[in-house]
Amino acid sequence: MRAPSSWTSSRLLVAALALGAKAAPDPTAELTAQDIGDFAAVEFGDRSVRGFPGPRARPSPARTAGRARGLAPAQRYSGGALLRPNPPAIVCYEGPAYDEAACKNLWPQGSTCLPTEEPVGNCTRGLPEYVVNVTSVKHVQAAVNFARNKNVRLVIKNTGHDFGGRSVGAGSLSVWTHNLKDFELIPEYRMGPYKGMAVRYGAGLEAWELYNHMAELNFTVTAAGGRTVGANGGWFASGGHGTLTSTYGLGCDQALEIHAVTADGEYVVANPLALSCKTGANSTTSFRTDDPAAFWDAMSIYFRFSAAVVDAGGVDWSYLTPLGNETYTFSVGMTWPNRTVEAVTEILAPLYEQLQAIGPRVHRLRAARGHALPLPPLPRKNWDDDEVFANTFAAIRVSVEAGYTFHGLAIGATKKAAGWPGREGAVNPAWRNGVLHGILIGLQPKGLTAQEARDEEAAIQEYMQLWRDVTPARART
Ligand SMILES: *[C@@H]1O[C@H](CO)[C@@H](O)[C@H](O)[C@H]1NC(C)=O
Ligand SMILES: *[C@@H]1O[C@H](CO)[C@@H](O)[C@H](O)[C@H]1NC(C)=O
Ligand SMILES: *[C@@H]1O[C@H](CO)[C@@H](O)[C@H](O)[C@H]1NC(C)=O
Ligand SMILES: *[C@@H]1O[C@H](CO)[C@@H](O)[C@H](O)[C@H]1NC(C)=O
Ligand SMILES: *[C@@H]1O[C@H](CO)[C@@H](O)[C@H](O)[C@H]1NC(C)=O
Ligand SMILES: *[C@@H]1O[C@H](CO)[C@@H](O)[C@H](O)[C@H]1NC(C)=O
Repeated sequence: MRAPSSWTSSRLLVAALALGAKAAPDPTAELTAQDIGDFAAVEFGDRSVRGFPGPRARPSPARTAGRARGLAPAQRYSGGALLRPNPPAIVCYEGPAYDEAACKNLWPQGSTCLPTEEPVGNCTRGLPEYVVNVTSVKHVQAAVNFARNKNVRLVIKNTGHDFGGRSVGAGSLSVWTHNLKDFELIPEYRMGPYKGMAVRYGAGLEAWELYNHMAELNFTVTAAGGRTVGANGGWFASGGHGTLTSTYGLGCDQALEIHAVTADGEYVVANPLALSCKTGANSTTSFRTDDPAAFWDAMSIYFRFSAAVVDAGGVDWSYLTPLGNETYTFSVGMTWPNRTVEAVTEILAPLYEQLQAIGPRVHRLRAARGHALPLPPLPRKNWDDDEVFANTFAAIRVSVEAGYTFHGLAIGATKKAAGWPGREGAVNPAWRNGVLHGILIGLQPKGLTAQEARDEEAAIQEYMQLWRDVTPARART
């Protein structure tokens, strides 16, 4: 990630559906009775909850798809915003849309109609019936109202990536926020005890676009480390973290206002304290050794040091991957906001001393400037006690020895880092004293049967259980 050009403390005025007020037509204008006209399906009404479609749930994908097609009349006056797209991967399948080159450039979305070079059968829909390409509050209100009034499954698809496929729903109506790219710098903003700079931006920006704004305007906001992650949306709402987390907390900790459309179709400007988020110099280092015992000693030392990294305001992200035949690879990158290389070298000195003490079999290859299944972060208590740490590390080690990749993120989203308003927010308290956010990654071979996929899931869950066992609920808070 590019380091922002300055470390000026600025607060993020996040706006989930925020839109600049000046463009014409006014994108913040709300849906009116005149807009609704005689299309009663988009009228405002009571809030109610929609079930996830499935064998025991209502409505089923087929039923919700049928109802979603009732939106057809709206196409006439949607101004082109209502789309009925084919599944993107239709270009990989036999038929009039087949396009070999286009097929090679696709990312999978969900698990129906996947991009493939060996297509079997036809590309069934399996995806939203209609997509609203939203550019205004009105669009969102009309979509939410229709879904509620007609009992249609509603999905929100932002931008960036969502490997879990939560942004694709069979037979649904999709609110697609990718084109909400507004961005506005507010030099002076006040809210509660906060006074200073803020930015207001739309849901559809990706992290790389925020970085570009930061570089151009010389300020810093909390953003995802992955450049293609949506700068807002799911990242924001689920405890999104990034390279500034040990300094300024989670993405949602910096939110001053959220502009959103609620399930009853109302457009609200919400105080972030009422919301529940579920949730410098940089260096790259890797180790090499021919001796598995020394390797695991080095790993244990490295991960034990995570607490010192987050305490000093650093963030690291690492991958510990088995290569087979008892060989492993470990790589890690770090970001140290507002720290010089000299300061970071000093912070990391005890780590290198301990690694060197293991013996000459561990080499420091590079220390340079430059560049699933998660659980809440493993808590600090697991670092404070030698025995508990040894058990914690053993759980990670056996998972990797079993063939899975461990992806660790050392981040310290403490209340102190969060500051106001984040420290008073409703974020999952596990983040506040966490040291290491671990993700266990197992690749699923293509073409598994449903039962094979369930068996794979059960196998990885056995290892996740070891992590849960070393993280008893009482230790997490
Ligand atoms: C950056 O570090 C300097 C020196 O340690 C400190 O005085 C300053 O407050 C820091 N800036 C921010 C934004 O944290
Ligand atoms: C795919 O769909 C077309 C048109 O509906 C149909 O003619 C063809 O038989 C289908 N192919 C398969 C393999 O199902
Ligand atoms: C979605 O809307 C934006 C803004 O009006 C437009 O530029 C874009 O082409 C639309 N996308 C599609 C797929 O229609
Ligand atoms: C960026 O902002 C910092 C802190 O306000 C300031 O010291 C620096 O000169 C600015 N840089 C540019 C290029 O404007
Ligand atoms: C593991 O070792 C065996 C026997 O030496 C060899 O055939 C195999 O290719 C090795 N596998 C990997 C992944 O290195
Ligand atoms: C961090 O790494 C990036 C990517 O290699 C580089 O462009 C940037 O200059 C580095 N930042 C610092 C402060 O060294």
